[in-house]
Amino acid sequence: MKDNNLTTASGRPYVDHEDSLTAGPRGPILLEDYILHEKMAHFNRERIPERVVHAKGSGAHGTFTVTNDISKYTKAKLFNEIGKQTPVFLRFSTVGGEKGSADSERDPRGFALKFYTEDGNWDLVGNNTPVFFIKDPKKFSDFIHTQKRDPRTNMKSPTMVWDFWSLNPESLHQVMILMTDRGTPNGYRHMNGYGSHTFSMINSNNERHYVKFHFKTAQGIQNLTGKQADEMRSKDMDFAQRDLYESIENGNFPKWNLKIQVMTEDQSKTYHLNPFDLSKVWPHGDFPLIDVGVLELNQNPNNYFQDVEQAAFAPAHIVDGIGFSPDKMLQGRLLSYPDAQRYRLGTNYEQIPVNRCPYATNNYQRDGQMRIDGNGGSNPNYYPNSFDNIQTDSSYKEPAKQLDSVLADRFDRNAEGENDHYTQPGNLFRLLSQQDKENTINNIVGAMNGIDGPKREEIINRQLCHWFRADVNLGMAIAKGLNIQIDPSLLR
Ligand code: NDP
Ligand code: HEM
Repeated sequence: MKDNNLTTASGRPYVDHEDSLTAGPRGPILLEDYILHEKMAHFNRERIPERVVHAKGSGAHGTFTVTNDISKYTKAKLFNEIGKQTPVFLRFSTVGGEKGSADSERDPRGFALKFYTEDGNWDLVGNNTPVFFIKDPKKFSDFIHTQKRDPRTNMKSPTMVWDFWSLNPESLHQVMILMTDRGTPNGYRHMNGYGSHTFSMINSNNERHYVKFHFKTAQGIQNLTGKQADEMRSKDMDFAQRDLYESIENGNFPKWNLKIQVMTEDQSKTYHLNPFDLSKVWPHGDFPLIDVGVLELNQNPNNYFQDVEQAAFAPAHIVDGIGFSPDKMLQGRLLSYPDAQRYRLGTNYEQIPVNRCPYATNNYQRDGQMRIDGNGGSNPNYYPNSFDNIQTDSSYKEPAKQLDSVLADRFDRNAEGENDHYTQPGNLFRLLSQQDKENTINNIVGAMNGIDGPKREEIINRQLCHWFRADVNLGMAIAKGLNIQIDPSLLR
């Protein structure tokens, strides 16, 4: 067989690739044409389930370079030397739409990063916003259902969306960000990324600090207005994919500056907000940004399906020197992602090249569909055993987390420090320029005008109260846009 022979998957050279084998030149096809069967059968199996959220995405390879010494906070090896470089893979995405949906939808954008470090892969699976719509993972599937299609009409439903948001006031902060023009970024290069959750950093003295990760775009923030985003949908559904691909192809490598905010364990006990609440930010005035390094994307994947579609990121993938926090959303995500990936890609998904740890991995997991890494060869498949020298390593032990003393109590959503859903969204609105305020109000009015059906008035009134509580001028402007008369004396 020659190297350039066209062959079946098992290596048999094809005699002909265009005409099926028939009984005579004009007769029916013979069952014997196994090449036809193979071709049709493989095609029928080309689709794998799309991600249940973040289905539409774009990815690229790159490097992370340390520019500042943060070893007093973390012993993570990827941060242990200025100038040190670590290979990364990043996948951007929209959240609610299907795999073929438009890149210009009003939606948060995913910002999922895999660092291939010498201590294993570290995944930081964030968004372009520092907060989220909910703060308990139990609400996630309900929330996502409202972002997808109505079960009867099979259409997107602003009524479901605003019904859920208005009944869950903790969503207001994220909804406010989403309704600014940052809800429709001008491609992936012109937006920030945020780890969003609170994570731990652990230093070589085994001391824990709590941190938030911020990736600030070096290209500058650029957004589309609502109108521009609508126009872009009909002009180029894939404009963000195109922009990212072409800029990397042209050697114009996008960069982000990684910064962290740091809180001590003692501060975490006394800060006036719950530092593990994903609907809140840590104000920069209290917790200033500290430089860490530069992320650069510099290589397009050679094959989209292989690297981007099969990429599997998981908040559970941490490395020595980085840990979790009691953020309930983070805790919920630890379980959800590997579970989703076992279903979407199969139980051995960690062996797919883009997911594989480039350094040695040793464990006693064996078999399962698509096992392609040698399956442990003839080595023992149980632990402990008397034959190999694979050992656990207590030097990787994390310091114990200091938790509240009350055990097994239910969360109190009305407790002090938990119940203020309005100050931070209001602060954000007040810091916007006049033009951004106007655009935000137009975006909100346009979106809320889509609410219909018998509950329209009830849902609008409930949501309007939230906007008023965030900022009275904002509430008044939205009410005006929706043609709702407000008696100003009620606002005193
Ligand atoms: P600061 O004045 O220090 O920070 C303001 C922040 O607002 C900046 O990070 C800026 O991001 C960001 N911003 C500006 N326009 C928008 C927008 N349309 N959508 C989202 N973010 C925007 O004040 P605080 O730290 O006290 O935060 C005030 C408010 O800013 C918060 O309530 C929160 O809504 C928002 N914010 C805060 C962040 C934080 O980690 N503290 C992070 C992001 C937003 P940039 O520098 O990129 O322009
Ligand atoms: C993707 C669940 C909250 C960012 C996913 C996937 C699931 C999921 C199941 C698909 C994974 C896959 O098939 O590979 C959840 C749950 C959440 C939650 C249960 C809350 C409890 C969040 C938050 C963020 C986030 C708060 C950001 C801060 C992402 C991103 C992706 C994703 C970026 C796409 C990853 C990729 O590009 O492959 N999520 N999610 N999610 N999620 Fe979440």
